[in-house]
Amino acid sequence: MSLTEEIKKRRTFAIIAHPDAGKTTLTEKLLLFGGAIQTAGAVKSNKIDTATKSDWMEIEKQRGISVATSVMGFEYKDTKINLLDTPGHQDFAEDTYRTLTAVDSVIMVIDCVKGVEIQTEKLMEVCRMRNTPVICFINKLDREGRDPYDLLDEVEEKLNIKVRPLSWPIGMGKGFKGVYNLYDQKLNLFTPSQRKLSDDRQVFENLDDAELDGLIGPNNAKQLREDVELIEGVYPEFSVEDYLEGKVAPVFFGSAVNNFGVNEMLDTFIKIAPAPKSRETDVREVKPSESKFSGFVFKIHANMDPNHRNRIAFLRICSGKFERNKPYNHVRGPKPLRFSNVTQFMAQDKEIIDEAFPGDIVGLYDTGNLKIGDTLTDGENMVFTGIPSFSPEIFREVVNKDAMKTKQLEKGLKQLMEEGVAQLFTFDMGSRKVVGTVGQLQFEVIQFRLKNEYNATVEFHPMNLYKACWISSKDKKQLDEFVRSKNRYIARDKDDKLVFMAESKSWLQMVQDNYPEIEFHFTSEF
Ligand code: G4P
Repeated sequence: MSLTEEIKKRRTFAIIAHPDAGKTTLTEKLLLFGGAIQTAGAVKSNKIDTATKSDWMEIEKQRGISVATSVMGFEYKDTKINLLDTPGHQDFAEDTYRTLTAVDSVIMVIDCVKGVEIQTEKLMEVCRMRNTPVICFINKLDREGRDPYDLLDEVEEKLNIKVRPLSWPIGMGKGFKGVYNLYDQKLNLFTPSQRKLSDDRQVFENLDDAELDGLIGPNNAKQLREDVELIEGVYPEFSVEDYLEGKVAPVFFGSAVNNFGVNEMLDTFIKIAPAPKSRETDVREVKPSESKFSGFVFKIHANMDPNHRNRIAFLRICSGKFERNKPYNHVRGPKPLRFSNVTQFMAQDKEIIDEAFPGDIVGLYDTGNLKIGDTLTDGENMVFTGIPSFSPEIFREVVNKDAMKTKQLEKGLKQLMEEGVAQLFTFDMGSRKVVGTVGQLQFEVIQFRLKNEYNATVEFHPMNLYKACWISSKDKKQLDEFVRSKNRYIARDKDDKLVFMAESKSWLQMVQDNYPEIEFHFTSEF
C-alpha cells in the first residue's frame, strides 16, 4: 500500500467526557463493532473507583494496567482507527490535554441527565486551541434526561461551538422509542440491551407516511414531524467543511450501554472525520505525505519499579514511514536515537512492529533520553509546536529535608518533570522551587517517587498562588522593567521561559491593567 493510501485510511481520535458520562462504555462498543473484542466488559475502566480516589498507589497501579489500553487500534470497514485513551481522574487532566495534541479529532460524550459538566468545558477549551473537529454523542437516552433542545443550547453556550443535530430522539427515559437519523432519513427503533444493531432499519423518505404512526404511536409521530420540521428550519444544512474547521459539532443521540445510536455515529465518523493532517513546526508546516519520517512525544509512562528505570514514550507519527532500528534525529538531544523495542497497541494486545505510518501511535522503550514535546525526524532540525503546558491550579514550595541528597533531588525533580508529572517553576529571588499541578494527588506521587527512586526527601509547603502566567512583550525594555519591578513574583519554567506568579485573580487583573504593554498567557505557547 502506498504512503498516501496508508494515511487516507487512518483516523486518530480521543473520546472526551466528564467522568461517568459513558466514555468507557462507548469505547467498548466501538471496539465491539471493530471486532477488536468479542465480549462486553472486556475494557477496563480507567476510572478510579471511589474507594481508592485518594490512594495514589492504587491509582498508579491501575494506570499501569491502563498502559496497554493507552491506544486502542482497530479496523472498521477498511479504516484503521486509533483511539487514544484519556485518564478518567481529573487530577490527571494535564495528561488528557497532552493526549489531545496527538489526535486529529475527538468524540465528546455528554450525559443527557447532567448536561455539559465542568471537565467537558475544560477539555473543549483545549480542542478549540487547535480547532480540533468534534462530534458530540449525547448519551443515556434510556434515562429521563433534559430536553434535547435545552441540551443543544447548553452545548452551544458553554462549549462555544455551533451544533447541528444529525439524529433526533423520539421520547426519553421510559418513553424512549428510538432515534431518527436526519442525515440519511432513517428511523432506528430502540430495543434495550441489544448487542449488535440489525441493519433492517425503517426508512421514511416521507415522514408523513401513516405507517410511522403505527410504529411509534400517533403522539410520538406528530412530535417527531414537528421536531424535524423545526430542526431543518432552524439549523443550517450540515457542512463537513465547517466540522473539519472545528466550527460546528454534529450531534448524535443514543445510549452507549444499550449499544444504541453508536453504529450510526461510527459510520458517520469514518466518513467525515479527518485523516492525519498537516502539522506546524517552528520552521514550517509538515505534510503527512512527505516521504521523510517525523513525529513527537506526547506522553511518557514511567515504570514504577525502581530497579528498571525504563519508561515508555508515546510517539505520534506525523509524516513518512517510521522504521524500527533506524537512527533518527533527536532534535533536542546530543545524538541520534534508534529504537529496537517499538510497540503498537491493538485493542488490548501490544505487539512489536517494524514500521508505522502517520496517525499511528507507537510506544518506544526509553532509558531517560526523551521528554514530553520532543521531536524525532529523519534528519531535519525542526520542533513540532502545539504541545503547550497549561497553568497549574495548585502550587506548593519544594522543601529539601536532606541537604546531603540535594543532587539526587535535582535529578529526580528534573526527570519527573520531563515525564510531565507536574510543572516546576524556579523563582528568580532566592531560587525557591515551586511545583504546580492540577490535582492534589501529584504531590503524593512526587514525594513518594523522589524517596523511592532517588532517595531524596522533600516536604511540600502550601503557597498562596492563583496562576502561573507566561509573559511576553513586543517592547523588550518594558518587559525588563516589569521583571525588575515585580521581581518577587517572577519565576522560570523548565525551559527557562519567564513566568509571572499571580497571587489572586483580582490582583492579576490589576497588574494586567497597570501594564498594558505586557502580555499574560495561560499556556506556555503563544
Ligand atoms: P466514564 O468512562 O465516562 O467514566 O463512564 P462509564 O462508561 O464507566 O459509565 C458510567 C456509568 O454510566 C456506568 O454505570 C455505565 O454502565 C453507565 N452508562 C453508560 N452508558 C449508559 C447509557 O446509555 N444508559 C445508562 N442508563 N447508563 C449508562 P455504573 O453503574 O457506574 O457501572 P456499571 O456497574 O453499570 O458498569
